[in-house]
Amino acid sequence: LDDEYKKADKNDSDMLTTLNKEKGWITEHLYQYQSFWFTPAAIRGVKRAQQCFKAQPTDAILVTFPKSGTTWFKALIFSLMNRDRFNFSSHPLLTKGPHDCIPFLEAIIQDETSYQDYRISCSPCCLLATHIPYSLLPASVMSSGCKIVYVFREPKDVLVSNWLFMTKLRFKELPSFPIKDAFDLFCKGVSHYGPFWDQVLGYWKASMENPDKVLFLTYEDMKKDPIICLTKLAKFLDKPFSLEEEREGVVQEIVRLCSFENLSSLEVNQTGVQHFSPQFAVANRHFLRKGQVGDWKSHLTPPEMAEQLDEITRQKLARTSLIE
Ligand code: A3P
Repeated sequence: LDDEYKKADKNDSDMLTTLNKEKGWITEHLYQYQSFWFTPAAIRGVKRAQQCFKAQPTDAILVTFPKSGTTWFKALIFSLMNRDRFNFSSHPLLTKGPHDCIPFLEAIIQDETSYQDYRISCSPCCLLATHIPYSLLPASVMSSGCKIVYVFREPKDVLVSNWLFMTKLRFKELPSFPIKDAFDLFCKGVSHYGPFWDQVLGYWKASMENPDKVLFLTYEDMKKDPIICLTKLAKFLDKPFSLEEEREGVVQEIVRLCSFENLSSLEVNQTGVQHFSPQFAVANRHFLRKGQVGDWKSHLTPPEMAEQLDEITRQKLARTSLIE
């Protein structure tokens, strides 16, 4: 197996030399693979997922653009789907980070044993998350009829959240990375799993064509009305809240358990570390920064930057109902 991995690594690095590259956010470069921008490790994850992942009809996959609320929605979906198994006073989310509860497809698929163990442990409904654009998803995702939940977040907040997160993780040997550089790259579509708008549009169209298989939610709606949003999510995932559960306040309990205030106050999320691969670990606290809508205003200056980004969004998402 080692030889096979070495051969795959060699093929991957040969392939990189043929791809367009641009300045990276964490690593030196991002590479353009099948119209989207990735780190070399992410390309490997996408390719392995395309080759090996066999979705089952009962799977549910959370899809986000990085920094759109993946951590929060992992916690919400995990609590929602496992509410018959755990009670709220000794819930796994009190001692495990949300990324430990629902793995990323492109990370877990790299290790056959972990992947198979995880599949067995969560049978019959396997919960996974990914940032993979719709056009690059493994074919079995759509053919199996499994459910996809896509979360959209307002792009100015996505850009700022990404920039703050990536500057913390950026390789120390690389030069500093001012927000103007991040802004220019983001506007050109060059960010992890970008262009942002293309990733959004892929899932937006899929949700229009297949509304019972692809649910399109927004970070902002979940913030504004978590009870309504969570109820919709539960119905979509075929786990609707019963009248009794509604009377007992189960929906409110999940919202409270997964709230920014609660998750960020837990020891595991203040001091714990998430190991996504042997080479890539991130402190859990970096996934819980402020959790607010509109925090871009504190970082995106001068205001022309916001106007420029809004204009791109207006043009790119003109045919959706995502813009005012
Ligand atoms: P900010 O940097 O704007 O605070 P991801 O999980 O996709 O990496 O996204 C991280 C963003 O989601 C961060 O945004 C983070 O603070 C926010 N977030 C994480 N947990 C949250 C929660 N429980 N409620 C609301 N926002 C949350």
